[in-house]
Amino acid sequence: MFRTHTCGELRIDDLGKKVKLSGWVQRTRKLGGMVFLDLRDRYGITQLAFSDEINESLCNQAQKLGREFVIQVEGEVIERSSKNEQMNTGEIEIQVSALEVLNAAKTPPFTIEDETDGGEDLRMKYRYLDLRRNLVRNKLALRHRLGLETRKYLDAQGFLEVETPYLIKSTPEGARDFVVPSRMNPGQFYALPQSPQTFKQLLMVSGFDRYYQIVKCFRDEDLRADRQPEFTQIDCEMSFVDQEDILQVFEGLTKHLIHSEHGVELVDFPRMPYDEAMAKYGSDKPDIRFGMEIGNLNELAQNKGFKVFDDQEIVLGIAVPGKASSSRKEIDKLTDWVKRPQIGMRGLVYVKCNEDGSFKSSVDKFFDQESLKAWMTALGGKPGDLLLVLSGDESHCLKATGALRLEMGEQLGLRDPKTFAPLWVTDFPLLEWDEESQRYHAMHHPFTAPKPEDLHKLDSDELADIKANAYDLVLNGSEIGGGSIRIHNKEIQAKMFRVLGFTDEEAKAQFGFLMSAFEYGAPPHGGIAFGFDRLAALIGGSETIRDYIAFPKNNAGRDVMIDAPAEIDQEQLTELFLDLRPRPDKND
Ligand code: AMO
Repeated sequence: MFRTHTCGELRIDDLGKKVKLSGWVQRTRKLGGMVFLDLRDRYGITQLAFSDEINESLCNQAQKLGREFVIQVEGEVIERSSKNEQMNTGEIEIQVSALEVLNAAKTPPFTIEDETDGGEDLRMKYRYLDLRRNLVRNKLALRHRLGLETRKYLDAQGFLEVETPYLIKSTPEGARDFVVPSRMNPGQFYALPQSPQTFKQLLMVSGFDRYYQIVKCFRDEDLRADRQPEFTQIDCEMSFVDQEDILQVFEGLTKHLIHSEHGVELVDFPRMPYDEAMAKYGSDKPDIRFGMEIGNLNELAQNKGFKVFDDQEIVLGIAVPGKASSSRKEIDKLTDWVKRPQIGMRGLVYVKCNEDGSFKSSVDKFFDQESLKAWMTALGGKPGDLLLVLSGDESHCLKATGALRLEMGEQLGLRDPKTFAPLWVTDFPLLEWDEESQRYHAMHHPFTAPKPEDLHKLDSDELADIKANAYDLVLNGSEIGGGSIRIHNKEIQAKMFRVLGFTDEEAKAQFGFLMSAFEYGAPPHGGIAFGFDRLAALIGGSETIRDYIAFPKNNAGRDVMIDAPAEIDQEQLTELFLDLRPRPDKND
């Protein structure tokens, strides 16, 4: 037997017990004739005491143990002379009578402490050591609890968890596919699912009624703090439902998860149409933890002789509370910020709304005090605020102002990770125009149903105006879920593919199975998928999903620990018909 107790278990009530513990050496320190050793496992830390007087050789042995050695000890639980109230086990220690080294350890490349000295790259290379740190392990424990609560909630609502295959044909979710060559089918490839979208719809045709799956998805896209090439979804689908039914069930799930973790009861989630989100927040995933809504100044600021505004499509501004006292330097810094390539604005106009009712701006030459006051009113500002104004092409300027709003929210500390501000964004456009390919793309995916009242526009030139029965769940400015009511009629689905630029043959080749299924009694259905990594990160108070994934990839899509992706040998390439070397000419 390796242990009678874990390292987080013993308390003052256990005094006098003979115990066995196993774990890792966190640290040792010598104090006079004593050696104290912190022994760590997943459950906590217990202090071990070795006394020179009681057993000199054991004491010497303990002193020589390096960090992260795996040891087993036997001893008696005694009361500590100096207690540590920060630790659960802080009132006791073990007077050790026997020690066995189970495995020696090299000195780890960084300290296994909450505040480690290891940089990100080093910790990723030795992720198995990083995972020994409480902070990191606690995040995975939170993820585990959320997974469990999700299953409990959905099971209680009658959902069946069904696994769908990973080796499939492309499912278009807007990213590139990862593909897997088939040895048995020369020159052919599977695609890894970007989501189980088509399969869950087929399960509805099969009559499963309520399906869910906590499932890996794979997308070959540019990575960011909230994106990984393989990530996990809580994927769901329901039959005989309308949008309202789906929002209710999954609002319930979100409330349940936040309550189970934080004990917070959220009130009903607000809803906002996509057009309003874009106009007020410059984003389809507004962070509504704070106001500072975007206002349109076209009427008030254009055609007053200031060419910069007159030449542009739109003039937008925000009122930043209490920032009228900003220094020249601070404003210059913000100007540089909006000029960065990621934001791409040419400049920034500011107006200081002084407490005494006067205004000082960078455009005083063109606008009098009355005009600037009207701007303040239009932007919902008040004396003491700083107005920041941008102009440009409508969509670019909206996005830039939205980004500036978030930056100012961040600077003012208005984005508290412990506050949860969920929001349903509804009424998305069905299609978005892609300049590069000069055609329409599905904003969600090609299976999303148009709103019934817009269905006729599929045959018109008003394609851009069609609204979809699609919705996203946004939490603190992050999109944590998205879904829609689906097309369940073969003709409409075929029309949708045509609108997206597929020929009937291409649509049949790629999605014939789904359209055939629609001919055998497809029920009206719809669903949603949550980004599970994102949800876990946000509920844990972070926007970086990497910390909530045991073995994540870095920003270049690499696993630096196992060094993947990697080349494969020639034999394997040949077997997979991927040997791209020029074949030797027979005559050579
Ligand atoms: P969507 O593409 O919106 O919808 O994905 C659903 C949710 O998955 C999360 N997500 C990601 N998380 C981490 N890394 C990524 N690369 C990544 N990409 C997406 C987001 C997103 O909201 N089949 C549809 C759902 C449906 O219609 O039912 C789908 O996959 O949080």
